[in-house]
Amino acid sequence: MKTKIIKINPENPEKDKIHFAADLIKKGEIVAFPTETVYGLGADAFNEGAIRKIYRAKNRPSDNPPIVHISKKSDIKILAKDIPKIALTLINKFWPGPLTLILKKGNNIPKITTSGLKTIAVRMPKNKIALELIRQSGTPIAAPSANISKRPSGTSSQDVFNDFNSKIPLVIDGGNAEIGLESTVIDLTSKPINLLRPGKITLEQLKKIIPNITVHKVAKGEKLDNNKKAKSPGMKYQHYTPKAKVILIEGKKNKIKKLIYKLSKEYKKEGKKVGIMLLKKENKIKIARELFQKLRDFDKNSTEIILVSGIEQSGLGLAIMNRLRKAASKIIILKSN
Ligand code: TXA
Ligand code: MG
Repeated sequence: MKTKIIKINPENPEKDKIHFAADLIKKGEIVAFPTETVYGLGADAFNEGAIRKIYRAKNRPSDNPPIVHISKKSDIKILAKDIPKIALTLINKFWPGPLTLILKKGNNIPKITTSGLKTIAVRMPKNKIALELIRQSGTPIAAPSANISKRPSGTSSQDVFNDFNSKIPLVIDGGNAEIGLESTVIDLTSKPINLLRPGKITLEQLKKIIPNITVHKVAKGEKLDNNKKAKSPGMKYQHYTPKAKVILIEGKKNKIKKLIYKLSKEYKKEGKKVGIMLLKKENKIKIARELFQKLRDFDKNSTEIILVSGIEQSGLGLAIMNRLRKAASKIIILKSN
């Protein structure tokens, strides 16, 4: 299959170009499209065959369901039932935007769309191309991040094309993703409400509305106990892994730099190609936007070891550290003194 790339204006999407993409969705094909978080690999949420194609293209385990995207708030009722009041408060504050809600799933959702779970993940994105595509398709669009399973999420049409060339009919090029990290995911069916994946909508923002919200240990970037059931199926799987070995160094700031330079020298002596990422907490927004791109760039120039410094987990830092910890094959924590 030849994969087309069509450029669409993210500020004012050309209706006729979206029409072509929506036709593919209606026919049960999958289309890669931009959202404000990362690119998505979309299909009609009510078409089982189409959803199966997503899993196949991504090489994604079938027990890990995608997020379902809608173009207007009230469409949540097509997908979910027994929607709690708090959901409406959150929707009014954060939709359209990078917040995904886990709710009790409605009755007519195909099993494959939620991997057989009784719950469903729903989000209304802000990106105008995404919204127009959903609208013209006339159906909610199930879309996981557009990347081969375990690889960093795609944040540009080129990254998506590199992963899916010849596997899907169309990639919409809407420029680089604005946020760069996937949406915040919260489970409204658990008591207390649980943050499953941190993102641009921060824990601090959520606490103002849900003071007793808890943070799942995987959301903090910790490993899941092997014998404990995953709250979010995606938690069981390794993520964001570039080909290089990522070594994350956390703790005392000045010590981190020293260790990174020391390790870098040692690896270089062994003949290894080393990449370094020194992150500054002042640049969180930029770091989030460029993180997955950077990891992929290291792959492109065959970097073998990536040494990266950790940052504080406040605000967007929680989401950044969550992705880094999942990408890391080794974490070194430097204690003060
Ligand atoms: O920003 C985003 O959310 C992007 C864009 C395309 O919207 N999408 C995205 O989808 O990141 P994906 O499939 O890569 O991540 C969805 C996460 C997975 O970790 C999955 O396990 C979890 O949401 N999830 C989906 N349905 C769930 C459910 N019913 N209960 C708990 N977790 C669920
Ligand atoms: Mg993903």
